[in-house]
Amino acid sequence: MNVVEMHCTVNGRPVRDTVLVRLTVAEFLRDRLGLRGTKVSCEMQVCGACTILVDGEPVSSCCMLAADLDGRRVETIEGLARGGELHPLQAAFWEHNAFQCGFCTPGFLMMSKALLDTEPDPGPELVREWLDGNICRCTGYRSIEQAVLSVATTRDGDGRPG
Ligand code: FES
Ligand code: FES
Repeated sequence: MNVVEMHCTVNGRPVRDTVLVRLTVAEFLRDRLGLRGTKVSCEMQVCGACTILVDGEPVSSCCMLAADLDGRRVETIEGLARGGELHPLQAAFWEHNAFQCGFCTPGFLMMSKALLDTEPDPGPELVREWLDGNICRCTGYRSIEQAVLSVATTRDGDGRPG
């Protein structure tokens, strides 16, 4: 059986494991670490449901191998809230009714976090462009866009409300 040792940080926590070389990051997070907030749907980098951040960059965890996380920093939806306090993006999604079934929401939130970390004050066009690879079958996207824009105008440098 082809396995490889790897270590990384997941939401700030050091993780060391021996994984099958064909194990995807999504499988690693969900099945090895029990972090099932990361959703899997298309498994072919089309829907965005499985989006996480690796070294701050959004990636489709369904199409990346866990072995390639070695030495890298992973952020998932479980790491957004701190000390029982929702991340501003999570609070904004709630306030703007930016989800219904919620299946797509972790991916949208992680993608939106990456956007605001890159561009603190994006306009509507950039938000739409940035989230173009995330699919939602429930909301119609408008409420998601409004939620992200509301955070862009209120947060401080740490992503917390200013
Ligand atoms: S499940 Fe990964 S992009 Fe759809
Ligand atoms: S809230 Fe249901 S797919 Fe987006």
